[in-house]
Amino acid sequence: MKFFIDTANLKDIQEAVELGVLDGVTTNPSLMAKEGIKGTDAVMAHYKQICELVDGDVSAEVIATDYEGIVREGEALAELHPNIVVKVPMIRDGVKAIRYFSDKGIKTNCTLIFSAGQALLAAKAGATYVSPFVGRLDDIGADGMLLIQQIVDIFSNYGYPTQVLAASVRHIPHLIQCAELGADVVTCPLSVITGLLSHPLTDKGLATFLADHAKVNG
Ligand code: E4P
Repeated sequence: MKFFIDTANLKDIQEAVELGVLDGVTTNPSLMAKEGIKGTDAVMAHYKQICELVDGDVSAEVIATDYEGIVREGEALAELHPNIVVKVPMIRDGVKAIRYFSDKGIKTNCTLIFSAGQALLAAKAGATYVSPFVGRLDDIGADGMLLIQQIVDIFSNYGYPTQVLAASVRHIPHLIQCAELGADVVTCPLSVITGLLSHPLTDKGLATFLADHAKVNG
C-alpha cells in the first residue's frame, strides 16, 4: 500500500520524506488556503516546491468547474512537473475532462467520491486514482470503510487499472482497515503516519533492553 501525505505544509512533507516511507502528496484548495498560499503564481510555485521535495505523485486540484476551465487549468498544472496528478472533482464536466486527460496521458485523481457508482464512472473515464472520502462519510453516520470495500471489489472484478486512494483518513484504525481491504493508497496527515511508530510495549521493552545493557556495560 502506498502512503501519501494529505497536506500542503512543506515542513510536514519534508518530515515524512525523511522518515523514508512517503510515496506521494495530496492537496486540496482548503489545504493550500491553510498555508496562506494565494494567487495563481504562488500556487504554481508551491506545487513545484512540493514536487521537488517528493519522489512520487503530487495531486494538484483544479478550481474550475466547467469543462474548458478544468482542461485549461489541468494542462497548466501538468506542465509544471512530471509528478503532477490533476485532481478533478466528481462532477459531469469533471468526468468529461478526466476522459480528455486520460486520452492525452495526463494522470488524474477524481476527488470527492462518496459512492461506488461515482468511483465506477471515474474509472470508466480513465482516472488514474479515485479518492473516496472515508472520514467525511463517517462524519454523517455512513460507513466509509464499506465504500472502500465496494470500490476495491468492483475494480478487482473488472481489472480496472484505476487505483483506490482512500482519502479523508483521520486515524490509525482507518489506515489499518484500508490496508486490510486492499486500498492501493491512503492519504492522511503526518500525525497518522507517525502515530504508526508508537506502542507502549515497544517503549517499555526498549527501556528494559537499554537498562539491562547498562547494568553489564556501565
Ligand atoms: C483528499 O484528497 C482530501 O484532500 C482529504 O483527504 C480530505 O480530508 P478531510 O475530510 O479530513 O478534510
